[in-house]
Amino acid sequence: MKDRAAHLRQLLNHHAHRYYVLDDPSIPDAEYDRLFKELQALEAAHPELLSPDSPTQRVGGAPVDAFASVRHRVPMLSIHTETDISDLGAQAFDQRVRKQLQLKENDAPVEYVAELKFDGLAISLRYLDHVLVQAATRGDGETGEDVTHNIRTIGQIPLRLPPQAPAELEVRGEVYMRRNDFEALNIRQRERIAAGAKNEKTFVNPRNAAAGAVRQLDPQIAAQRPLSFFAYALHFHPQEPQSLPPLEATLWGLQHYGTQAKVLQCLKAWGFAVAEETQTVTGAKGLVQFHQHIAGLRDQLPFDIDGVVYKVNRIDQQAQMGMVSREPRWAVAHKYPAQEELTTVLAIDVQVGRTGKLTPVAKLDPVFVGGVTVTNATLHNEDEARRKDVRVGDTVVVRRAGDVIPEVVSVVMEKRLHEAAIFTMPKLCPVCASAAVREEGEADYRCTGGLFCSAQQKQAVLHFAQRRAVEIEDLGEKLVDQLVDAGLVKTLADVYKLGFSHLATLDRMAEKSANNLLASLERSKSTTLPRFVFGLGIRHVGEATAKDLARHFGGIDAIMDASVEQLLQVHDVGPVVAQSLRTFFDQAHNREVVEQLRACGVHWQESDPQGRLDLPLSGHTYVITGTLPTLSREQAQALLEEAGAKVAGSVSKKTTAVVAGEAAGSKLEKAAALGIPVLDEAGLLALVKPAT
Ligand code: IVH
Repeated sequence: MKDRAAHLRQLLNHHAHRYYVLDDPSIPDAEYDRLFKELQALEAAHPELLSPDSPTQRVGGAPVDAFASVRHRVPMLSIHTETDISDLGAQAFDQRVRKQLQLKENDAPVEYVAELKFDGLAISLRYLDHVLVQAATRGDGETGEDVTHNIRTIGQIPLRLPPQAPAELEVRGEVYMRRNDFEALNIRQRERIAAGAKNEKTFVNPRNAAAGAVRQLDPQIAAQRPLSFFAYALHFHPQEPQSLPPLEATLWGLQHYGTQAKVLQCLKAWGFAVAEETQTVTGAKGLVQFHQHIAGLRDQLPFDIDGVVYKVNRIDQQAQMGMVSREPRWAVAHKYPAQEELTTVLAIDVQVGRTGKLTPVAKLDPVFVGGVTVTNATLHNEDEARRKDVRVGDTVVVRRAGDVIPEVVSVVMEKRLHEAAIFTMPKLCPVCASAAVREEGEADYRCTGGLFCSAQQKQAVLHFAQRRAVEIEDLGEKLVDQLVDAGLVKTLADVYKLGFSHLATLDRMAEKSANNLLASLERSKSTTLPRFVFGLGIRHVGEATAKDLARHFGGIDAIMDASVEQLLQVHDVGPVVAQSLRTFFDQAHNREVVEQLRACGVHWQESDPQGRLDLPLSGHTYVITGTLPTLSREQAQALLEEAGAKVAGSVSKKTTAVVAGEAAGSKLEKAAALGIPVLDEAGLLALVKPAT
């Protein structure tokens, strides 16, 4: 019986590692549950068999009244933060290291381990006789809090280390929450609040949610908060705790490992998750490259980072370098621009989009976030604005990640000074005063004014003129505003009816600009069917759908006349898109605009209906990720499309294959998870090569 319990513990810990750390379970969940229940039953009947490394002990501990303090046997040091967010940060660090190590100019470049700077909280894990016995927060670096009961619930943290690991050690790393786990948690929290639960709240960001979970007094609650863990450091206890100076204490016993890279490799072998993005690099150049590489990857990572960490790889060199005010000189954190900042809401405006959609937008006190100055942030729609309860005068968290439109994440309620009115959506379009309606089951209000609404006229023209549509180079926002406001342009076709005399009446329109615009208009007349269809701005018809429609039908008349059933035959066109197309072309004024555009000379090449369906890659979908050695992304996409394939932005079960280059990120992981084949550039070229 004792053997069976030990065997079950080992088996379950093995499968937990495969599931949580390697993301590669080898048995079905139901089988895991069965083994788990068997062990639980055995332990219930024979409490003497219980041991702290039993997976049954991950959950179910009793709540504690307060956290006990833990004096760290090896201090938890801080890390110097390089504030220069440009490449100079990496160069400055390398120079300091070389100086400290007294290296001459001709000496070889220093070797570094470059890691991610995870945005969670530092935790120290103590193992005795291979078993996890204590987990503590950093606290002030000398004394932290005992959070063992909560940390045990984290599936990615091994409860027992394999025999090849030293019996006694301390592992440090970051507890964090993955973005999708965070989103799901907030959805659950919202549902709880809506159902009347007291003392529940939503979380501002994953770090905040992770910190809250780790500092829970009730481990049952912590267990419901999906936490993850990355290991980044290993320590051993000096013979007499606190007898050594801090730097010596942190490096005690590590000489044997030789390098930080080796330490990480061992941590991984012992069952800890170590970030895959970690690299061993040389010199300032290697650091700069890593910094840039990760900057490009940041938004695709499934978790938040706020920078990268550079560490001198050799432990003997680390020992040589000393410390300044609790910060070892051998490491530095190099930050990226923050993606979230605080600012105040000056006003809440409602903007009218091309399809009449009304979007509440917070006008902000300008704030530098995500690398740019942001003055507007979307509140998405009425429900979102109400849910976040954003009001004029509020201090809010604004987030801008990558190229995503800046958004208001939440209100800092403690800072609300006076109660401004709750936001409500106007019942009339703020531009044309037509009724604004929210249809059953829809999140958005729409202006019913259609092309009578000047906001929609403007947006429609700008959409048509953009580079990805027919491309009218000199027709920008200000000019469109003037043209529409002056009543010169109401429909897309009016743009081509403009003459020099009309333009000359406009403010600040010099002769040269007028001529430039007329020349741009002339050039834009020669276009392609997909660009034209996309340019019409039909709801739900993006570039990819426009291409599919053009390929399927070959000409504009066939598209305009297609029934819903016929439209549904098109690759990737579903009922919503088909209905939207039908609704658009059922309106006489839309067909009229198409006719007028043709009459004004806008033209493109048509082809035989479905003429391209027999191309070699018809019906196949590819995803391109990373940097290919010679082809640009656009070139690779064009090659695939010419061969009849579709190129999508994200990997799904329908993806035929992923074309991956250097620095491919999460899309590659997803392809692996779904068992989708991966090609390199050579593979792509072989695929699209015309058969000879
Ligand atoms: S090393 C002496 N590595 O940054 C250096 N810290 O340390 C000890 N952090 O709150 C820390 N990612 O939790 C190190 N790859 C990484 C890290 C990392 C995040 C955090 C750590 C602590 C802060 C300063």
